[in-house]
Amino acid sequence: MEGMVSNFLWLQSLFTSLNFLFFSFTLVFSTLGLFLFLSKRLLKPCCGCEICQTYLSSSWSKEFNNLCDWYTHLLRESPTQTIHVHVLRNIITANPKNVERIVKTNFENYPKGKPFSAILGDLLGRGIFNVDGEYWKFQRKMASLALGSVSIRNYAFEIVTCEIRDRLVPLLSSLVSQEVQKGAVLDLQDVFRRFSFDTICKFSFGLDPKCLELSLPMSEFATAFDLASRISAERALSPSALIWKIKRFLNLGTEKDLRQAIKLLNLLAEDMIKSKRKMGGLSAQKDLLSRFMQSIDDDNYLRDIVVSFLLAGRDTVASGLTSLFWLLANHPHVVSAIREESDKIMGPSSDNEFVTHDQMRKMQYLQAAIHESLRLFPPVQFDSRFSQANDVLPDGTFVERGTRVTYHAYAMGRMEHIWGSGCLEFKPERWLRDGVFTPENPIKYPVFHAGLRVCLGKEMALVEMKTVALSLIRKFELQVSSPDNWPRFAPGLTATLRGGLPVVVKERN
Ligand code: HEM
Repeated sequence: MEGMVSNFLWLQSLFTSLNFLFFSFTLVFSTLGLFLFLSKRLLKPCCGCEICQTYLSSSWSKEFNNLCDWYTHLLRESPTQTIHVHVLRNIITANPKNVERIVKTNFENYPKGKPFSAILGDLLGRGIFNVDGEYWKFQRKMASLALGSVSIRNYAFEIVTCEIRDRLVPLLSSLVSQEVQKGAVLDLQDVFRRFSFDTICKFSFGLDPKCLELSLPMSEFATAFDLASRISAERALSPSALIWKIKRFLNLGTEKDLRQAIKLLNLLAEDMIKSKRKMGGLSAQKDLLSRFMQSIDDDNYLRDIVVSFLLAGRDTVASGLTSLFWLLANHPHVVSAIREESDKIMGPSSDNEFVTHDQMRKMQYLQAAIHESLRLFPPVQFDSRFSQANDVLPDGTFVERGTRVTYHAYAMGRMEHIWGSGCLEFKPERWLRDGVFTPENPIKYPVFHAGLRVCLGKEMALVEMKTVALSLIRKFELQVSSPDNWPRFAPGLTATLRGGLPVVVKERN
């Protein structure tokens, strides 16, 4: 009996020790696992290479104004025009052959991917910018039909012309007289942002937020939209997605602001959709929302679709116009050439203020100047995809599954092997052959993206930019306050000048 008890005690102590060992091992392994997980997700993986060290210490900023200028420098130096920022797990390329593989020939392997859709998911939901697969195919088909129709193009042109005639020109004219008295300075970037918000809202919803009426407060819709897109873009800057996800879970700081801004956007969109349904007669209305409402019943889905269009058409156009006017301030001969061409086609500016579609089609130099400006300052400076499976790019770069692959449109506009030795010059003539505008292959010039997801609003954006540029160039002298300062960009989804573009407005002699 005594033996049995001692055996039992012995066995019990063995089990206790085994249990203890098991728990210790579990504890050690789970701590180790947690540590490895955190170091992978929260801390940037260590890499001693020069690019990663320069990136981590931000020491590039001693020599370059903007991160995009540093990347351009590295890409120009690289024999393959491709670099790998290991700490970001991001392969960046300015090589057109690689671009072709990513956006066209191996398109299926390079979707937007989960990390991207998570960042913009709260704002864009299932909108075209944020989805792959069937959702994307469906919206792409619908949107190409809508944006390709002549009636919607005319509608867009009508909206832009009205906004220029009724708001933009009167606003600048009112400043001309003030300028004489006080030397008033206007932030042209802010004006273009307000202008493009009004036009894209009218186009997308048939709603006029009146942002360019400076006497009115900025509409709460525009303010909420601005805040939501800024904070969403900032998510991408966080060293790990886990950080903003935890903040979102706990509803803290900027994530709390984002939630509130999106809530407001949703309420306003809901109201808009409901009142449109009540009004009926959707087929008679020309805006994009009414067109989509004829075939989609799900109001949340409708909201997502239209918010993507706001993002697509607002900041891009404003950014393109802002850099165009910065470049024109430094190249007065281009301004003179645009005036000369338009005077020939439209007659002297005092006689004819507003351009028609037919007249605009004839303006080859203007078309060239806009393309040239977008080459040097693309509104979307880079665009990323996530690789689904291992791949090898045409320049020999190995892409591991799950790696982010980015083509850099800003750097590509500054590559000698694409544009020749004068690639840094602003020279509209490079687009003209015997005086006729000749487009470049979008793979070399991916300003509007290229391949299967090429921008659907390109024509509309170009018409908008040309109409605005012509109206201002023919009527006013715009003196940029410090034209020689190299632009500094603010972080965001679209290129935006830090500090705006201050100008003094004068009547043209
Ligand atoms: C200068 C102005 C513009 C520029 C530089 C531009 C550039 C781009 C770029 C780079 C993309 C690809 C984005 C991505 O991969 O996520 C894109 C896509 C798109 N753009 Fe534009 N865009 C402009 C104006 C517009 C306008 C005014 C509209 C519509 C009203 C528009 C509608 C779209 C749409 C719907 C897509 C998504 C295409 C797809 O995913 O299949 N864009 N644009």
